[in-house]
Amino acid sequence: MNPFKPSLARFSRSTPIASSPRTLGVATGCIAGIARNSKYDGIELKQQDPSPFIPDDFRNRASLSNHSPSHRQISDSPFTHLLYSITRSLTQTPTANLPQLTSILRSYVSNPLHWSAYAHANPSKQYTRNLVLEVPGIFNLLILVWTPGKRSAVHDHADSHCLMKILQGELVERRFAIPKFPGTEGKLKQTAKAEYGTGKVTYMSDQLGLHSIANPSQSNYAVSLHLYTPPNAAVRGCHVYDADNGSAEHVMQGAYDSVRGIVQE
Ligand SMILES: [Fe+2]
Repeated sequence: MNPFKPSLARFSRSTPIASSPRTLGVATGCIAGIARNSKYDGIELKQQDPSPFIPDDFRNRASLSNHSPSHRQISDSPFTHLLYSITRSLTQTPTANLPQLTSILRSYVSNPLHWSAYAHANPSKQYTRNLVLEVPGIFNLLILVWTPGKRSAVHDHADSHCLMKILQGELVERRFAIPKFPGTEGKLKQTAKAEYGTGKVTYMSDQLGLHSIANPSQSNYAVSLHLYTPPNAAVRGCHVYDADNGSAEHVMQGAYDSVRGIVQE
């Protein structure tokens, strides 16, 4: 049985996990009305530094010492704990602690029962973009549901960090070098290709080039969790590239397919 049929959206509309203050007080509280450098529920919110990521910092993984949910954690859902831990990590430091965020994402064991209310599928699209959680100016967290056999355009990441965790299925990533003079250098040069299974956590940024993500399965949906910090693309858009001639086009991101479990018409 495919758990990501569009009918799920109707279910999720009536029972949005993240819309329930009882089950996700952290998420709902963080989303609305947070100003930069303000406080939420005792957590100091600081503007994240958009400076480029230093790969050496990422490889030198720090120990994860302070990401466990506090006693204020409302729900026992592991996914809710994940959201809380991400929020806590990103709102308590001036710059994103990428090793810590990676460890947080790795420690979560994916279970569709935790996140299916966010996973709205649409077979008429390459993939859907479903907003799970955001703190303006600091991060946004999306679940993408990949239609079988479909892929994204080649794109950049608007000077943001992108952490991706495969929640279900498999995805293939192809990376490309950024052309110095888009549209004049011919076909994009592919620099890497990797296949990721459920549970895998990966990192991407403009410092590593461009990429495209694809669902290689011809029969099964794939689902992935994407953390963007700062959430630049949501504000100012990003660039998509033509793989055949290397030309670039600035695009603004379209509306989310669902927001906190509520399907957007
Ligand atoms: Fe991407």
